[in-house]
Amino acid sequence: MAILDFDRSDENVWRPRAAAIIPGGASTGSKRPEALFGERVGELPTHFTRASGCRIQTAEGRELIDCTMALGAVTLGYADDVVTQAVLEAASNGNVCGLSPAMEVDVAERLAELIPCAEQVRFLKTGAEGVAAAVRIARAHTGRAVVIACGYFGWLDWSSDASGVPESVRADIVRVPYDDVDALETTAKHLGDRLAAIVLEPVIERLPSVEWIAEARRACDESGAVLIFDEIKTGFRLKPGGYQELVDVAPDLAVFGKALANGYPLSAVVGRESVMRAASDTWISSTLASETVSLAAARAVIEWHARAEVCESLGDIGAEMRSAVDRAIVASRVEGVRVDGLDHMWLIRFDSPARESRFLELAVEAGVLFKRGAYDFPSLAHDEEAIAEIESAASSALVRLRDEE
Ligand SMILES: Cc1ncc(COP(=O)(O)O)c(C=O)c1O
Repeated sequence: MAILDFDRSDENVWRPRAAAIIPGGASTGSKRPEALFGERVGELPTHFTRASGCRIQTAEGRELIDCTMALGAVTLGYADDVVTQAVLEAASNGNVCGLSPAMEVDVAERLAELIPCAEQVRFLKTGAEGVAAAVRIARAHTGRAVVIACGYFGWLDWSSDASGVPESVRADIVRVPYDDVDALETTAKHLGDRLAAIVLEPVIERLPSVEWIAEARRACDESGAVLIFDEIKTGFRLKPGGYQELVDVAPDLAVFGKALANGYPLSAVVGRESVMRAASDTWISSTLASETVSLAAARAVIEWHARAEVCESLGDIGAEMRSAVDRAIVASRVEGVRVDGLDHMWLIRFDSPARESRFLELAVEAGVLFKRGAYDFPSLAHDEEAIAEIESAASSALVRLRDEE
């Protein structure tokens, strides 16, 4: 099936066209040319016309194996048949109207069955919106303002240091270092009953200590604040219910996105009914929050997880992918590079951005798109053949890197 058959040439005509019409060249920050490849942008591919399984076709007509899987938004593979069928059916039945779709209730009930802390559910479109909504609910529930935060929560003002965000917005957010029990305890104690919420990205390149998560729970219980887990990368990846399924600690609220709908725009704020209730005391709403194309995709994902041990397979496939790259590193005898992270979300760590950039360029030449920095993500579509190709591309890129140095 031809999706978009533009005139093709070896030259990347899309990058200059994008740079002229789209500030930064891409609407998703991590897809800007320099975010993809670092300093070695050169003629590297920046646009695609087709994605299927773990393979993408660039706008120049080249095929690459993708290890980034749309920044972790896709676990089942691009254009998964089951998800695509569900999406087509939802689209042909009309994805919105003046009433709420019955599917919104159905998918909410299914999420409540799957996710430990979920008694109630609200849908939105993006991860950033979902976390902002969870923080709003926590503030409305407690009547307090200050939030302790650790992690990346998207681009919206409440959690951003970017230019254009007023200083006053940042006044009510206190950042703490990852997995630092003392810092969390001291900060929460200092804030006392001004603390509205602790919002954590529970997994950042490794699992946190149980003590850190337990301290977050304890501090919230002691001060009456709301514990929020951002499960946008971990949900439907580590476990269907996210990181919270791995530990005994349940948050009050959690946010899901990305893999929840295998690449379709959907996020979900879930949590205890006593806290979620505050969503009706404040104002959280979006015109297309419950459109059914993305809900149908999420329902297909949930059914996939019911039929098969998707998360276990992702762990196995991720382990094979990182071992393949590890073997390539050992065989090439290149120093200053190693594989890190978890099997479900791993990364290649270089000792210098310039070497990383050159490696990414050489890997693309050899047919594989790796992620600059975190993360490379396994999908069910990374089969043995793809993993062999990943090893061979990593080998060829590393050997060329070695020979050039
Ligand atoms: C942990 C986490 N939270 C929030 C977000 C923001 O999600 P979105 O880009 O869908 O707004 C991301 C995106 O990378 C994320 O990884």
